[in-house]
Amino acid sequence: MRNSGTVCGAAGDAGAPATRTQSGQMSQTAGHAAPEMQPHSMRAISPDYPRPKIPTAPVLSLATFLRDKHRPAPSILNHAGARFVTSGRMAIGLALQQMKIGPGDKVLLPAYNCSSMVEPVISIGATPVFYKIRPDTSVDLDDIEAHLDGNAKALLVTHYFGFPQTLSVVRRLCDQRGVMLVEDCAHSFFGGSDTSPVGAYGDYAIASSMKFFPIFDGGCLVSTRHDIGKIPLRSAGFGFEAKAVLNTLEKGFEYGRLKAVELLLYLPMALKNLAWRKIKNTAPTKYKAFGPGASDGGFSFEPSWLDKKSSLCSRVLIALASKSRIAAKRRANYMRLQEALADLPDCRPLFAQLPEEVVPYVFPLVARDPARVFPLLKNAGVPVIRFGEFLWDGVDETLCPVSVDLSRRVMQFPCHQELKPAELDWMIGQIRHIFLMKGVA
Ligand SMILES: Cc1ncc(COP(=O)(O)O)c(C=O)c1O
Repeated sequence: MRNSGTVCGAAGDAGAPATRTQSGQMSQTAGHAAPEMQPHSMRAISPDYPRPKIPTAPVLSLATFLRDKHRPAPSILNHAGARFVTSGRMAIGLALQQMKIGPGDKVLLPAYNCSSMVEPVISIGATPVFYKIRPDTSVDLDDIEAHLDGNAKALLVTHYFGFPQTLSVVRRLCDQRGVMLVEDCAHSFFGGSDTSPVGAYGDYAIASSMKFFPIFDGGCLVSTRHDIGKIPLRSAGFGFEAKAVLNTLEKGFEYGRLKAVELLLYLPMALKNLAWRKIKNTAPTKYKAFGPGASDGGFSFEPSWLDKKSSLCSRVLIALASKSRIAAKRRANYMRLQEALADLPDCRPLFAQLPEEVVPYVFPLVARDPARVFPLLKNAGVPVIRFGEFLWDGVDETLCPVSVDLSRRVMQFPCHQELKPAELDWMIGQIRHIFLMKGVA
């Protein structure tokens, strides 16, 4: 199986499409407002890389349920009443809907983005306006302030790679200017302190559960300030529920997990594959409609999934998975990567330290020459990804040079809880080998 070079939703299917298109149209606005965009513009085509040799995102194994001695990690679920949807972008869509944002309104988004953060804004008919971020990924408050005119109704702030922004000052600014704050915890399901877990500052906070749990689909919306209990959500139907279970198991099997279960299910799975292939060939649209594109590594926003609940399988797995193990393993794997790559030339960790309250999404490494190193890593089967590899059309050097630089140079390596020690060792070996190769700067 081959895969594309970029993943926005970490659950990205190994066979995800290699091209990315942005849909919808933006109105032309001045200054740093949303740049003009060609409708359905073709994005750069990623080369066809081999399937990663180790899992990019968590895959189900028996270890998922192991209890451990670590204390429970704070998470977005510490806020009562979380609503479970099928992806982070759907949670953004619901937040925008709850804020009654629509045509004529502006939504401020970070210039360092992936299109699944922008598409919900376009879909609702509002105008995205991009603000600058700094080299350490913190928001440029002056630039945000400069964009707060009467039409700016909401501001989305992202905790990149699991490292929280300082939001008290952003919150104050939003209160002063009557702007709603959406806390984007897509990379930080866990983290914060006992008194203030991630998601506490936003009017609404969203997460992308797929990035932290071994599940097919998943996003969630929470709010400490507004009642979200009445948002109507319904099941996406039997086909979706079945696909969620089967896909979750298959991802585990694909990477050598759950061997006994695989053996037991060999015959039913073979029959299922036969039936699936038949549906795929005779009714490809129906086959696709069983699951949201977000679960297959797509970037687009499908409004038909806005009122759909996350699958029962995903919700049960989130409830049963050991959260303290997830936090502890991710931190330990991150530290292992940091130590093992510390002496490599031509690269540095994006963050100098791993603060105690951080549960990392990935290990971000800044490469001096990504154009040479990235394809070598991909071709070796290393599950490296680049957040914002394709920034939204028009987000360029003039708008935010830092975002352009980070989108090119930051290589993300997995540090998730389901990596086996041997897999982590293999990945470290590959990274070291490639960065130390003669002629590769
Ligand atoms: C920072 C950020 N926000 C939001 C999203 C949307 O999450 P999802 O892919 O679950 O829709 C992503 C997806 O990768 C993301 O990276």
